[in-house]
Amino acid sequence: MSKIYQDYFYDVNGFDTNDGGYKPLVRPKVDPRPLRIPELLKPDQETATDIYYTVCAQSGETAILPGEKTKTWGYNDTINGKTIVFPVEKRIHVTLQNRLPELTTFHWHGLHVTGPEIDGGCHAPVYPGEDKKIEFTLNQPASTNWLHAHPCPATAEQIYHGLATMVYLTDQHQTQLNLPQTYGVDDLPIILQDRTFHEHNQLDYRADYDPDGTLGNTALINGTVNAYFDVTAPKVRLRFLNGANRREWRLHFDNDLPFKQIAGDNSLLPHPIEMTKLMLTCAERAEVVVDFSQFKPGDEVNLYTDQTVILTFRIKDFTDTQETTVAPELLTIEKPKVDPATPVRKITMDGMDEAVMMNHKKFKMDRIDAKQPVGLTQYWDIVNTNGRRGGMIHPFHCHGMSFLVISRNGKDPYPNELGYKDTVAVNPSETVRILVRFDLVGLFMYHCHILEHEDGGMMAQIETFIPGQPRKHYDLMTMDKLMKAFAEERGIAQDQLWLPGMDSYHKMHMEM
Ligand code: C2O
Ligand code: CU
Ligand code: CU
Repeated sequence: MSKIYQDYFYDVNGFDTNDGGYKPLVRPKVDPRPLRIPELLKPDQETATDIYYTVCAQSGETAILPGEKTKTWGYNDTINGKTIVFPVEKRIHVTLQNRLPELTTFHWHGLHVTGPEIDGGCHAPVYPGEDKKIEFTLNQPASTNWLHAHPCPATAEQIYHGLATMVYLTDQHQTQLNLPQTYGVDDLPIILQDRTFHEHNQLDYRADYDPDGTLGNTALINGTVNAYFDVTAPKVRLRFLNGANRREWRLHFDNDLPFKQIAGDNSLLPHPIEMTKLMLTCAERAEVVVDFSQFKPGDEVNLYTDQTVILTFRIKDFTDTQETTVAPELLTIEKPKVDPATPVRKITMDGMDEAVMMNHKKFKMDRIDAKQPVGLTQYWDIVNTNGRRGGMIHPFHCHGMSFLVISRNGKDPYPNELGYKDTVAVNPSETVRILVRFDLVGLFMYHCHILEHEDGGMMAQIETFIPGQPRKHYDLMTMDKLMKAFAEERGIAQDQLWLPGMDSYHKMHMEM
C-alpha cells in the first residue's frame, strides 16, 4: 500500500501567515468566470533541428473585474503571457522584443543556459524598442519552467505588473509516459498570483509594497479571479507555478481529495507521491494529477489555498476519452558522487524586512561573490539564520543549473522534493544541503525568491569557469547605469526615481 501524505511538511512557525503584515485572501464577489488558458506561443519557424520564436514584452489592458480593465504587462499577451514550449532536442532561437515603456530583462527561470546574457538576469537589459536575438541548446529533462522579468531592484514591480509566463520543456521520455498531455484539456497551466485592486480596478504596486514581500488580497489564477474550469477528462494534470511576489500557497481540495504529485521544478519525480496537501513557496513548480473519475456531471470540486477557494472544477461528461496513466516509475535520478575533499559551500540567508542579506552582504551588481569550476559536484549548505520564532521561510533559488535536495537539518528531504529542483524553501533556523554542479561557464545569480527580498539585497552571484582557461570578461550592469536608464525612460530626475528594492538599501544606509 502506498502512503498518502496529509501535511504540508514545512514548519508551521515559518508560514507567511505568522507575519504581522500577512493579508489573507478574500474571494471576490463577482460572477465565476472561466479560467484563462493562455494560448500556446506559435513558433515563427520550425525545422527538424531548430525552432524559432519571438517573445515580446508588452503593455496592455486585461478584463479582470467587472467594469474598467486593468493595466497590465505580459509576454505576447496583455497579462502573464502565451505558454512557450521548447523541445529539448532542438536548437532554440528567440528574438526578445521590448515594447514596454521601460527596460526589462528576460530571465529563463529553471533553464540551463549560460549567464548573464542568455539567462537574462540583471546584466542583460533589453531597452524599450529594442530587439535582441539569443540562441541556445538545452540539456535537461522535460519540466515546467517560467519566464519572468529580472531587472534588479525592480524585479518585484515588473512581475507584479504581469511579466511571468510558463515555459514548458518537452522530451521523448516524458511524451512516451502517456501522462495527461492535451494542453488546455487535461494538462493545464496554473499560475498562482495575488493582487489588490484599487480605484478603477488598477494595481498600485507602491501603495501595496512590503519589504518582506508584497501580498494582494485577491487570488489571480492565470490572470482570472474566481475562476472555474470545465472538466471533460477523468484525469487532469495541473502544472502549478507559484508566480506570486511573496505568498505561499497551501493547496488542497474539497474533502481532502488525494492527488498525485508527479513533478517538481526541473523534472519528474522518481515516483509519484500521493498527497492531500501541497505547499508551494515562491517560484516553485509542482505538477499534480487529479483523478476526478468518481464524480458525475454537475458535481463541483473546489481548490483552496488555506481556507479560500481559488478555483472550481465543474465536472462535465468525460468526452475526452484519451486514456492516460500515472506510471509508478517516472524518472531515474543518479546522484553524482562528491569528493570528500571538496569543501562545503555555506550560504546564509539573513534578516527580514529591510535588513535582508545573503552571507551578511546585500547584493551588488558589480561584485562577484563566489566562484566554482564547471563540472565540480559540491554540497552547498543553505542556512536560514532567522530565528525559529518570528522568522520566515526563504525560498532559495540559483540560476543556470538544477540541484538535488540532500537533507534538511541532517534529516531526509521531504518526499516530494526528490526530483531536480532550482528552488528550495528553507525553514527558519534550518540548514538545507543541496548537491550542485554547473555545466556551463557563466555568471549566475542566487537569491531568495521572495521578490522583495531579492530586490532588497538577499542575493549574490557566482562565476563558473574552466580551470586553466582564461577568465571571461563580463559586462556588468551598474546601479548608476540602471538608474539613469529608468529615470530617462520615466522622464524624471534620477533622484525622483523609486525602485522597490531601493528603500531597503537606504534604510540600512547601504549603497546599491
Ligand atoms: Cu526566478 Cu533570479 O529568478
Ligand atoms: Cu532564475
Ligand atoms: Cu526571503
